[in-house]
Amino acid sequence: MNQLRMIQPDDFHVHLRDGDCLARTVPDTAARFGRAVVMPNLSPPVTTVAQAADYRERILKHVPDGAAFEPLMTLYLTETTPPAEIRRLKESGFVRAVKYYPAGATTHSAAGVKTIEKVYGVIEAMAELQVPLLIHGEVTDTEVDHFDREAVFIDRILAPLLVRFPQLRVVFEHITTREAVDFVDQGPASLGATITAHHLLYNRNALFEDGIRPHYYCRPLLKAEGHRKALVAAATGDCARFFLGTDSAPHARRDKESACGCAGIYSAPYALEFYAEVFANAGRLDRMESFASRNGAAFYGLPLNQRRCVLIRENQRIPDALPFGGETVIPLRAGGTCAWRASADE
Ligand code: DOR
Ligand code: ZN
Repeated sequence: MNQLRMIQPDDFHVHLRDGDCLARTVPDTAARFGRAVVMPNLSPPVTTVAQAADYRERILKHVPDGAAFEPLMTLYLTETTPPAEIRRLKESGFVRAVKYYPAGATTHSAAGVKTIEKVYGVIEAMAELQVPLLIHGEVTDTEVDHFDREAVFIDRILAPLLVRFPQLRVVFEHITTREAVDFVDQGPASLGATITAHHLLYNRNALFEDGIRPHYYCRPLLKAEGHRKALVAAATGDCARFFLGTDSAPHARRDKESACGCAGIYSAPYALEFYAEVFANAGRLDRMESFASRNGAAFYGLPLNQRRCVLIRENQRIPDALPFGGETVIPLRAGGTCAWRASADE
């Protein structure tokens, strides 16, 4: 198959940032995706519906003419988020979910959750109102090896949480391990998971190819090859609760190429092409539409996008760098090639 025509996909996990950066991120994401779940880890974080409304307006100003792009907003869960905010969220119609960052797990997560018991009241309101909780699933305990943090999170936090709140809708975000795949696969209908293009394409060797590679550094970290294979099997398999979430997370080049570089990979401009490469390599292009355009919409209770897009098997070169709010950002696989090209259709 050298061409794939499919329903326009959605990105169920993206970081658009703010200010000047929106001129880069919004057109890049809107060129490929009909909708995107927008992460709230700005500085300061988006913790209220009122802040999400303002942020949404700033995003919409950068949607190119002719693009039909809907940002699906989220709130950042803190230990002081009141349950009343969940009711306001539900009434808003444009805030769709709440993001759970364990404090210290990643970029701008300091205001996140340290003690899960403190957010039980809010989570109860979410379960009642069927508001999805989007979870960054890694423990931050310094005694736990970085590569084990997701698996330990399942045992310590996620499994008990689902038992305590059986009605709660949960998206286990950017899963990276065999353990996470199995947990979601065997889990209830209320549990879904996003998978990034970079975790499907690369194993942790990419971080150390001829030297240290900061542009392959993200949280959760890339994992060993066996885990990558389990992710590919999940994305291309039959379980409809795995869906596309790029976790495209740009940082300026100098913030990545630093003695203490930021976590995050900028994949948005070629994300769809990268996913096509994964599905083609697995001989499962026939499964791409489910993963990219159907499963996430079904999980979130959204209609399918009306537009269509086409993926063509044709080499394209990935630029070395891209302008990014007065700085530059290095996209995933900069200077390399991707075997697919996406274009809009209809
Ligand atoms: O690598 C990451 N970057 N992982 C996250 O969870 C956050 C993100 C960011 O905001 O930069
Ligand atoms: Zn993220």
